Amino acid sequence: MKILRINASDTYSIRSQILHPNGPESLAYYEGDDDEQTFHLGAFIESKLVSVASFYFLRNDLFEDSFQYQLKGMATLESHRYQGLSSELLKMAFPIIKQNLCTLVWCQARSEAIGFYQKVGFEKIGEELTIEGAGKHYLMFKKV
Ligand SMILES: CC(C)(COP(=O)(O)OP(=O)(O)OC[C@H]1O[C@@H](n2cnc3c(N)ncnc32)[C@H](O)[C@@H]1OP(=O)(O)O)[C@@H](O)C(=O)NCCC(=O)NCCS
Repeated sequence: MKILRINASDTYSIRSQILHPNGPESLAYYEGDDDEQTFHLGAFIESKLVSVASFYFLRNDLFEDSFQYQLKGMATLESHRYQGLSSELLKMAFPIIKQNLCTLVWCQARSEAIGFYQKVGFEKIGEELTIEGAGKHYLMFKKV
């Protein structure tokens, strides 16, 4: 397994397949994807990209930390789940985020993925929210 920095455009296929299977392809393009401080990581098995995650320099006012990153677009192909790939992507991401002087990572976690986020050290905050077109979520955060 290899973890590499990838371009936003490399993430679109897995995002579409896993996160937006019923929507138009345009749903896989997220605001800020090509911003200078945004970075994308991918896990490769036998040269095939199987897991992706993206990180945006974006502050959420609910947290006091001055400098924060948002985690978005976290997805592993079904055939490669429960092999530690997403955790490895995050392990690679946290030092990069710290290097950028940020102290907190937050995400809008799908309710069915809460268990994953808790395993990798995120905490829930507030009540479950319904995001239109995207289902039930919790705001979660992790200090880095
Ligand atoms: C959530 C997701 C990204 C996890 O990817 P993964 O590569 O399988 O995750 P890992 O193998 O690194 O899992 C890390 C730990 O979390 C656990 N875990 C993984 N998915 C879980 C889930 N849905 N619920 C509870 N625990 C989960 C694993 O068992 C592992 O635990 P361990 O450390 O005790 O072995 C993947 O299931 C996925 O793509 N789901 C569909 C898309 C999605 O919901 N993305 C999140 C959007 S907010």
